[in-house]
Amino acid sequence: MSQIINQNDEEIYFEKNAILSKSVLWELQKKAYCQFGPAAWQAKNVPFYLTSNPLIARHYAQIVVGFFRDCLALRQSFSIDLKQPFYILDLGAGTGRFAYLFLNELFEMLANLKMPFRICYVMTDIVEANIEFWKKHDYFQAFLKEGFLDFAYYDHTDRKNGLDLVYSGVKLTADVLRNPLLVIANYFFDTIPHDIFCVKGHVLYEGRISLSYKKTKESKILSTTDPSIIPHIIHHVEYFPVESIEAFDIEDPEYSKILKSYAQEYENIPYFLFPVGAFQVIRYLRGLSNDRLLFLTGDQGITSDKQLLEDIPFFAKHDSFSMSVNYHAIEAYFKQSKGFCLLTSSSDHKMVHMAAVSCLGKNEVPELREAFRLTLDTFEPQDYFKIVETAFNGWKDSNLEFMIKLIKLGVWDPINFNLFFSRIREKLASASEKEREELITAIHQCWKKFFPVHKDEGAFVVNLGVLLYDMKQYDEAIQYFQYALKLGYEEPLVFKNIFLAYQAKKDPETARIWYEKGLALHFKNINQSDSYE
Ligand SMILES: C[S@@+](CC[C@H](N)C(=O)[O-])C[C@H]1O[C@@H](n2cnc3c(N)ncnc32)[C@H](O)[C@@H]1O
Repeated sequence: MSQIINQNDEEIYFEKNAILSKSVLWELQKKAYCQFGPAAWQAKNVPFYLTSNPLIARHYAQIVVGFFRDCLALRQSFSIDLKQPFYILDLGAGTGRFAYLFLNELFEMLANLKMPFRICYVMTDIVEANIEFWKKHDYFQAFLKEGFLDFAYYDHTDRKNGLDLVYSGVKLTADVLRNPLLVIANYFFDTIPHDIFCVKGHVLYEGRISLSYKKTKESKILSTTDPSIIPHIIHHVEYFPVESIEAFDIEDPEYSKILKSYAQEYENIPYFLFPVGAFQVIRYLRGLSNDRLLFLTGDQGITSDKQLLEDIPFFAKHDSFSMSVNYHAIEAYFKQSKGFCLLTSSSDHKMVHMAAVSCLGKNEVPELREAFRLTLDTFEPQDYFKIVETAFNGWKDSNLEFMIKLIKLGVWDPINFNLFFSRIREKLASASEKEREELITAIHQCWKKFFPVHKDEGAFVVNLGVLLYDMKQYDEAIQYFQYALKLGYEEPLVFKNIFLAYQAKKDPETARIWYEKGLALHFKNINQSDSYE
């Protein structure tokens, strides 16, 4: 539509009264991810820590193993074929950090438990540049070689027959899938379309969204078809009575049943999102899997009756945006499809986890249920994050042992190790021999859990080397400095550190070689303000 300028408040409207799921927002969203590529998670700050850390990877792997145990028990009745692969789809796999951590955990568990499952993990995305990034990533090569990993282009709006796997050439269709399909979708349902409604006096109203931005010097240069507008968007919702709830059945008769139940059960709901994108995905994958589906997801969202009635903000803008997922409705959807849904019981709407099965009753998968209860529902990644945050901000004088235990609690979380780096270094001078040994173990463990997304993360690897240098572990320090270089973190500082480590090892010849390499790089970067000396 043409731009309408409202003279009074200097707001420029570029969409008026659109159905939310049909809004231009979703085109902007797709464009944002396609334009950013892997930079989405670096320069563009799309959040991903909570869904891409060692703790969540371990929890998800334990839940998958629980489900596999149930599959063994149901082998006959559920037609499990252990000679055929179990496909695990990762929808919108993003950086690939989750995939890497999860695969390592899963394979270790399957080997330890001697579980004879063939796995093919398929990372999918709408962004070709992300797929290219995964293809070239060193850390995926071994999985690809073994056939344990594959990639596929996937656009949630394009629900064609099957997914084309890039490496094996397999077209993943209902005929090919002989075993239940496992699906992981983290921060995915919050990225794809939603509708919005409210209930007033047991009457359902549909929300229509209008979008605008404030006229400022900066916004003058914005285009409403370019994702750079997203952080500037102001949204307004107006509600209109729904004349026929059945009209929402075009895609799926379950939609109107859930909407009707909201209007019948609640006198008033200030507003609620209806996750139509998520429903489309679930419906498509139920078809693809012959209705044998396990879904594992994590998003900001709501689960309870109480939250449904609260005025929880639903629209979070970063350089892309996300919307709170109505897991309350998704649970109703799975129930109606003779499946069930396990949801985390925490009341924190910033993160909800779900394990849902499309065709089995709760009692048929006790191992899955128990694994969910003992992992995600006991101690979620955001619980860990909150503990770390409190410790970091409140307990500034934590001792070294405490900091190491905290990092260990997150299954050797490299991100939090880096957060505490300066404090760990400060405490090192007065550390006991035992604490030093524990720190060396922590360094090696965190390195194993590190999946680089950008070459600048080489700074973290250098920090590991610095601590080892401080502890006079010169060979190991050099190893980490070289790991950083291998990641593309070619900074003069790294060469200088290697030079210093060789000097400390009393090897002046090799030290000189590294000094000269560093100096050459320094002259190459002469325009930079840093001094080599
Ligand atoms: C918020 S990110 C989540 C990434 C990752 N799962 C995580 O937890 O960090 C959303 C992902 O979905 C992809 N995506 C966005 N729209 C999509 C669509 N319509 N179909 C398929 N993937 C989409 C994006 O490229 C991105 O990788």
